[in-house]
Amino acid sequence: MVQTKKDMPSYVVTTGTQRYECHIERGILSRVAEYLPAKAGKIFIVTTEDVWKLYGSRITFPHELVFFPGGEPNKRLAVLEVMAGEMLAKGADRSSVIVAFGGGIVGDTGGFLAAIFMRGIPVIQVPTTLLAQVDASIGGKTGVNLAGGKNLIGAFHQPLAVLIDPSVLTTLPPREYRSGLFEVVKYGIISSPALFRLLADNSAGVLAMDSDAVDFIVSDSVRIKAEVVSADEKEGGLRRILNYGHTLGHALEAETSYSRMLHGEAVGFGMNAASYLAERLGLLAAADAKEMRRVTALYGPWPAVSDLRPEALAAHTLKDKKTIQGTTHFVLAEGVGTVRVVSGIAAADVVAAAAAAL
Ligand SMILES: NC(=O)c1ccc[n+]([C@@H]2O[C@H](COP(=O)([O-])OP(=O)(O)OC[C@H]3O[C@@H](n4cnc5c(N)ncnc54)[C@H](O)[C@@H]3O)[C@@H](O)[C@H]2O)c1
Ligand SMILES: [Zn+2]
Repeated sequence: MVQTKKDMPSYVVTTGTQRYECHIERGILSRVAEYLPAKAGKIFIVTTEDVWKLYGSRITFPHELVFFPGGEPNKRLAVLEVMAGEMLAKGADRSSVIVAFGGGIVGDTGGFLAAIFMRGIPVIQVPTTLLAQVDASIGGKTGVNLAGGKNLIGAFHQPLAVLIDPSVLTTLPPREYRSGLFEVVKYGIISSPALFRLLADNSAGVLAMDSDAVDFIVSDSVRIKAEVVSADEKEGGLRRILNYGHTLGHALEAETSYSRMLHGEAVGFGMNAASYLAERLGLLAAADAKEMRRVTALYGPWPAVSDLRPEALAAHTLKDKKTIQGTTHFVLAEGVGTVRVVSGIAAADVVAAAAAAL
């Protein structure tokens, strides 16, 4: 599974039909051209103006630019249609390739554009936020929002490759970086005691973006995501563990109209609530639950949530996209590195866990 190139790891994702590599390598941004298919036609870089201003000079191969206006409200079909029209005007055809270069929003939108442009052209994911590097760019989920909810229109479209340059994280707004770190804490809890230990013992190094610490947290997270997606591309089973902290996290995002919390911050809250829930159900020892909350708090704080009602949050969990036939599934931890999916949890327990976390 692991190969080393210039001392940095690569992880392979294999799905029923595809195989691709996720390379984590400082400086890979200047070597994107090496990963373009030999017979590619025009290369379309989908990016935002802020990312292009910072890093566009590192892209030296011939390309066309398609700017995405940025921001969750623009992650919509109407914007995608404008971008597709722009591609066509600039000479795109079936041999074209998209390079999605930016945060998770660019990855989802650029990936979905590739999935549907002329019924599908290849995409290379070049993620530039921590959240996109450890999560959104890997696994082939692409899509846009509807007025009625996030990511409700989309397609699975696996990339040709995922090229991750951790050095670009230094320009991230600190809050965006910390928000991504909550997803990293998630990987530690669901699957990696070593990652959890590093997050617990060296928060100063992680927060200061010490390069060894950053390289390890990105690599170990990518390893886990690549392994889980390879085992279960379409979320029939194992992939559900990636939703740890997300059931009440999504509830919190919805209850605050997607305007108060960054996604990772909501996941931080959701993980705290999940730890209380697991403790309450007798799955997780109180000391382990407390340690999980202590480590999560090292990467906070997130905006205050004490004004919210636990009943309102619990009600949202029944409307979650992951809810199947009225049953909410919770991913709960039994210890660091061990989780399982539990269904049929009583609403009163969900309310109590949410209340404890608020
Ligand atoms: N497809 C998936 O599996 C998956 C998984 C998780 C999240 N997502 C999606 O990801 C999106 C969130 O992504 P995000 O958190 O990366 O937010 P984002 O894409 O909005 O990026 C955050 C901000 O940082 C800027 N930015 C990006 N890279 C930068 C850099 N290196 N330096 C400075 N600024 C930079 C962006 O332009 C943007 O303003 C959501 O829409 C979510 O639905 C998808
Ligand atoms: Zn998430």
